[in-house]
Amino acid sequence: MLDIANAQLIRQGQPVELPPKSFALLAYLAQRPGELVLKDTLLDVVWGRRFVSEGAVKTVVSELRAALRDDARAPLWIETVQRRGYRFVGRLQPLPFLRRGRCRPGGDPCGNLPLSLTPAIAREAEGAALDTLLANHRLVTLTGAAGVGKTRLALSRALARRTDYADGAWLLELAPLAADTCDEATLRATLASALQLDSAAAAANDALVRALRPMTLLLVVDNAEHVLRPLAPLLAHLHVQLPQLHLLVTSREPLHIPGEHVLRLAPLSVPAPEWTTTWPD
Ligand SMILES: Nc1ncnc2c1ncn2[C@@H]1O[C@H](COP(=O)(O)OP(=O)(O)OP(=O)(O)O)[C@@H](O)[C@H]1O
Ligand SMILES: [Mg+2]
Repeated sequence: MLDIANAQLIRQGQPVELPPKSFALLAYLAQRPGELVLKDTLLDVVWGRRFVSEGAVKTVVSELRAALRDDARAPLWIETVQRRGYRFVGRLQPLPFLRRGRCRPGGDPCGNLPLSLTPAIAREAEGAALDTLLANHRLVTLTGAAGVGKTRLALSRALARRTDYADGAWLLELAPLAADTCDEATLRATLASALQLDSAAAAANDALVRALRPMTLLLVVDNAEHVLRPLAPLLAHLHVQLPQLHLLVTSREPLHIPGEHVLRLAPLSVPAPEWTTTWPD
């Protein structure tokens, strides 16, 4: 089981310890099952080509094979394509399926949102405005400057509203994705992993649409600004194809796609000091 969102490989119920580069290489290959991935591509994706020779790819693949107890001559996971690259030939078990329709007011919390948020300061008006937008539109983007509180407000409103959606509210955290290597395939795989869908759902946009079609959920797509280029067309497609999908995106910049409603968050005003100095007229 490969949990890309949490950078974990789970084998027979136990996490397999993998160094970050090994995990990144495995995740890249596993998202392209059966596809030949060239050594050059892996150098770009995993090392960003920083003065690394092809030998580094070979070393990481050997480490991975050792961790997976795989054999290069009879591979069950990673096949070598002589002088060219590698191919993922493993069979990944899907993460447990998202259990549908179990979200009831007063029932179990539904989704994967962090449950503990310390009380927020002074965002009642923006929270109410966001609630109204979410109740009336299926694609809402919360924009604003870095650190202004977008993630915080989005998570707190999504958490409060999660029982309004039969399948709850789910977080797709994009901050860990690298801007230069993130493409639609990476986004699909990260989404499928976050929503605990079968990894086959990540194969293509249509497969993702099919997997999501029966669900009514709020998806919080958090910290999107650095991957807007591949994200915008993917979300535009999902938004059009899935009338029961509700999207709340946080991003420093809007997506600029049809159907998007933007709420711009201004910085919290500095509280008036309790002491004041009055100058004589
Ligand atoms: N209303 C609030 N009350 C208390 N703390 C807050 C509030 N809004 C934000 N914070 C805190 O400020 C910090 C930055 O907030 P947050 O991560 O939500 O900003 P952001 O706009 O999403 O930033 P970025 O653009 O980097 O994603 C966090 O530690 C958060 O807990
Ligand atoms: Mg944020």
